[in-house]
Formats: sequence, C-alpha cells, structure tokens
Amino acid sequence: MLGDKKKVKIAVLVSGGGSNLQALIDAQKNGIITDGSIVRVISSKNGVFALERAINAGIETKVIERTAFSSSEEFNKQLLSALHECGAELVILAGFLCVLEKFVTDSFKSKIINVHPSLIPAFSGPGYYGLKVHREALERGVQVTGATVHIVNEITDGGQILLQKCVEVLQGDTAETLQKRVMEEAEWILLPQATQIMCEIILNE
Ligand code: GRF
Repeated sequence: MLGDKKKVKIAVLVSGGGSNLQALIDAQKNGIITDGSIVRVISSKNGVFALERAINAGIETKVIERTAFSSSEEFNKQLLSALHECGAELVILAGFLCVLEKFVTDSFKSKIINVHPSLIPAFSGPGYYGLKVHREALERGVQVTGATVHIVNEITDGGQILLQKCVEVLQGDTAETLQKRVMEEAEWILLPQATQIMCEIILNE
C-alpha cells in the first residue's frame, strides 16, 4: 500500500519458554520496535511454550527438531533454508539452545543477535546457559550481574557487544530468583531495544 513503511523481516529462534520472544511481541505492539516485523518463529524443540506465544500473536511458526538430525551441520542446513524461505533479514536468538555453524553466521554476518544473561565476558562461552550462569555468578559472589545483547559470530558469546544492563545481586538470592530479576530488569528491556537499533541500521544500509 502506498505510504506503507518498509519493515525489516525478523526471524526469532527459540528452544523453550519464550519470555524473550514475548518481550519482542509486546514491543512490536507497544511501538518500541517500529522498524521490524517478526515474520517467523523457528523452534528447535516441539511443544515448547514459545510456539504457543507465537501462534497467539498470529506469527508463523516452524519446528526444526535438533534431535531429528544426526549432525549439527545437517540441522544448520535446514535452519538456513528456513531462514531464507521466510526472507529473514535479521535473526534473533531468544533462548535458542543450539550451536549455529559458521556457514550460518557467515551468511547472516552481523545480522544475528543473541541475549545472554550475564555481563559478557563474565559467565559466558560454551556451556554457559540457563541457571548455570546464575549459579556460578552466585558462587563467585559477584554483587552485580546483568544481561548482554551481542552480535552472533562463530565464537560462542564472542561477537560484538551491543547493549548491556546491570542487575543487582541481592542477599538471599537463589539462581532462580536471580534469573527472574535479570530477565525482568535487563533481558526483556534490552532485547527489544537492540532489535529496534538493528532494524534502523539495516534499513539505512
Ligand atoms: C534467557 O535467560 C536468555 O538470556 C537465554 O535463555 C533464556 C531464555 O528464556 N539465552 P526464554 O525462553 O526467553 O524465556
């Protein structure tokens, strides 16, 4: 339609509950993400709540089960074709628990972002996901932690840092309470902000 503003096509990759996906969906509605539109949600697992969130928001879903492939390479090939199929221009990892092969990160160079629940480089790298990140932060006795949104390249949690936000560790915190606070105070705010920033960059390219 004449006057319709071009929006960046976004694919969101998930493996679990999808609270970060929900933050993105809400941000689209609330005008925080104005220059992008989620066109497809791809899950590496069947039956996860993230898929329900997408369906409720009227977003197309696709399941590519990691366990259905004998190698990461085969899985990544399917993933890449699913990304091309929906015309994705920006890929967001929102609790996606599979490794992206170099041929995927290369073909979406500087166009994939991830949210990580710590202040990178602390508590990051291979194996650092979920509650383990918060457990280790508590064991180390840090007084502040937080979240990071970064560009995804072939090094796990190693790409350029886009946004970070601190979250206080409180006395009596458990890994679960800390995880919840990091999500509420940092992840759900940063990921939509970074998404809008990336969309603006892509539109101006
Ligand atoms: C979040 O803590 C995110 O930082 C990490 O995985 C978790 C996913 O949670 N990468 P959800 O599926 O978005 O609720």
